[in-house]
Amino acid sequence: MINTTHMNHDFQANVTREDLVALLNDDLAGEFQAILSYVLYSQVLKGPQYMAIAAKLEEHAAEELAHALTIARQIDSLGGMPLSVRKPVKTSELAENMLRFDLRNENETIVRYRQRVRQCEAIGEYAVAEYLRDILEEEQDHQTALANALGVAIPNDQETIETPAEIPYDLQKVESGNRNDILSEAVGTESPNTTKPSVQHASTSGSI
Ligand SMILES: [Fe+2]
Ligand SMILES: [Fe+2]
Repeated sequence: MINTTHMNHDFQANVTREDLVALLNDDLAGEFQAILSYVLYSQVLKGPQYMAIAAKLEEHAAEELAHALTIARQIDSLGGMPLSVRKPVKTSELAENMLRFDLRNENETIVRYRQRVRQCEAIGEYAVAEYLRDILEEEQDHQTALANALGVAIPNDQETIETPAEIPYDLQKVESGNRNDILSEAVGTESPNTTKPSVQHASTSGSI
C-alpha cells in the first residue's frame, strides 16, 4: 500500500490501482474537510467587506459536496471502499484567517489533483482523470475567489500559504451566550453590535 502522507512533496507517477484508491481516499478526506470548513466559514464571516465572499463560500460548500460524491463514486468504481475520514478543519472568528485557511487548502488540493490526473492517465484510468479535471477546474475557481477576497496573488503550486495560528472557539463562552466576547478578544476591539443569536459551534476535534 502506498504511503499518501507526503505525496505532495514526493510525487509518485507510477501507481497501482490499489494505490490510486488510497490516494483518492486521501482526496475524499480533503473534500470532507472542504465541505465542513465552507459550511462553517460561510456562516460566521462578519463585516460588510466580506458579504460577497461569504455568499461565494456557500456556493463552494455545495460544489465540494458534489466533488465528494464524484470521488466516492470513482473509488467504488475502482473496486475500493470510500472511507469516512476527513482532514482537520481549523477554526477562527477572524474573517481573514478563515479565508487564509481556505486558500491554503485549495492550493494543496490543486497540487494533489494535478498529480492525480497524471497518475490516472499513467495507468489508463482516463475516465477517472476526466472527472478529476472537471473538479480541478472548480478548485481553481475557488482558489481565485479566495485570493481575490484577500487581495493577494493567486499562489503557484510550489508556494506555501502562510496561515495564522488557529484561534479555537471557546465553547463555554458560546454556550453562555457571550459569542461577541470571543470575537472582541480575538480582534482586540469592542464587542461588535450584532443582533444575531449566538451559535453553538462544533468542536475542533476529528469527526464530522
Ligand atoms: Fe473539492
Ligand atoms: Fe475547493
